[in-house]
Amino acid sequence: MAKVQKIKGFADLFPDEAAKYTFMESCAREVFSRYGFGELRTPILEKTELFQKSIGEDTDVVGKEMFTFPDRKDRSLTMRPEATAGVVRAFIESKIHQPGNVSKFFTFGPMFRYERPQKGRQRQFHQIDAEIFGADEPQADAELILMLTSFLNRIGLKNLTVEINSLGCHECRPAYKQALVDYYHSKDKANFCEDCRRRMETNPLRVLDCKVPTCKELVQDAPVITDHLCPDCEAHFADVRAVLDGAKVAYTLNPRMVRGLDYYVRTCFEVTSNDIGSQTAVAGGGRYDGLVRNLGGPDCPGTGFACGMERLALLLDDIAPEAPDFYLAVVDQEASNEAMLFAQALRKKGLSGEVSFAGGSMKSRMRAANKSGAKTCLIMGGSELADETITVKDMAGNREQETLDRKLYLASL
Ligand code: HAM
Repeated sequence: MAKVQKIKGFADLFPDEAAKYTFMESCAREVFSRYGFGELRTPILEKTELFQKSIGEDTDVVGKEMFTFPDRKDRSLTMRPEATAGVVRAFIESKIHQPGNVSKFFTFGPMFRYERPQKGRQRQFHQIDAEIFGADEPQADAELILMLTSFLNRIGLKNLTVEINSLGCHECRPAYKQALVDYYHSKDKANFCEDCRRRMETNPLRVLDCKVPTCKELVQDAPVITDHLCPDCEAHFADVRAVLDGAKVAYTLNPRMVRGLDYYVRTCFEVTSNDIGSQTAVAGGGRYDGLVRNLGGPDCPGTGFACGMERLALLLDDIAPEAPDFYLAVVDQEASNEAMLFAQALRKKGLSGEVSFAGGSMKSRMRAANKSGAKTCLIMGGSELADETITVKDMAGNREQETLDRKLYLASL
């Protein structure tokens, strides 16, 4: 019979790998709660228009990478390619926003992008995402970067680079876009890829993010946004940097970073690693003032980031599972039921461990006990069953064993 296999770009995470994800999530909970963030869980499936209206029709994510399909009533649905759009929708729909209030959320979970799978790039991947609503101050952006770097330190990562940029606002960006268009027109249009020939008219910033080598080369001398910022954006960006400088967070200014999603204004940032192959970005984010209003909500600024958990997992050492307290070796089938009940009593006392199911030699039982890493091996056979005893073997120290009264042993724990 042909085996049913998983979908290309989707992965199963067995305990060793899943432990890394649990570790990252618990560290994120610990660190983010220190900054006043609360957990929000939003649906994986959303209406397609949510992503079209927020991420932008011209982006690779919306144009090429979404898992989109009609439901049974022919409504177009999309597996979320990122968390921000859904969090913004939930924020608007909940009507929790009050003018002057700041709301902070984090969320974890699977995201879906139809990209070519490779190391650090999956079609189902996981993000740790954080968003702040209601703060247009540069300190909110700086706080996110501080929180992100604290989290990355907490999970033990070093050798990461923080890159930051300002993408300007609706005041200064039009003039920059025009400067870009003028620059593209000064080049031979035929040398740009087909997408960029279109984008240079519809969305000139996107051309800067094109991955096609010829386009990359053509934009190398393009004007940079930081030469076109209005005084307010200049001051905003200077304050973000001042907080980072004060906190001694090392960063690089990258005036060519535009990010792959259309909703950004002003501050944007990425954290990269050179230790995980060609997909170097482990986290990215920025400010998206205007998005809440564009999606039908109040005039409320927003800023946030997301980490890619697959890429962080590549940088983490293996996490050793915690050793169980006991391994209960059943050496006679007739003792199986009593062994199960005894193990249950041990677990009620807070101990952890497994019971061997019947079958197999004493030798194989001891091998299994060793392999489990348990501190104590408990042995129950016909004689222990009859005498209401349990044989206890110390696996961590002298490896001696003694047979004890079962009830007294339980009471001694
Ligand atoms: P993004 O840069 O598209 O931003 O994704 C954030 C991170 O998700 C990336 O830096 C990368 O680590 C990871 N990632 C993206 N695609 C894949 C993939 N196919 N496989 C593995 N990892 C991947 C966002 O998604 C924004 N929503 C971030 C944000 C939040 N901006 C403001 N708030």
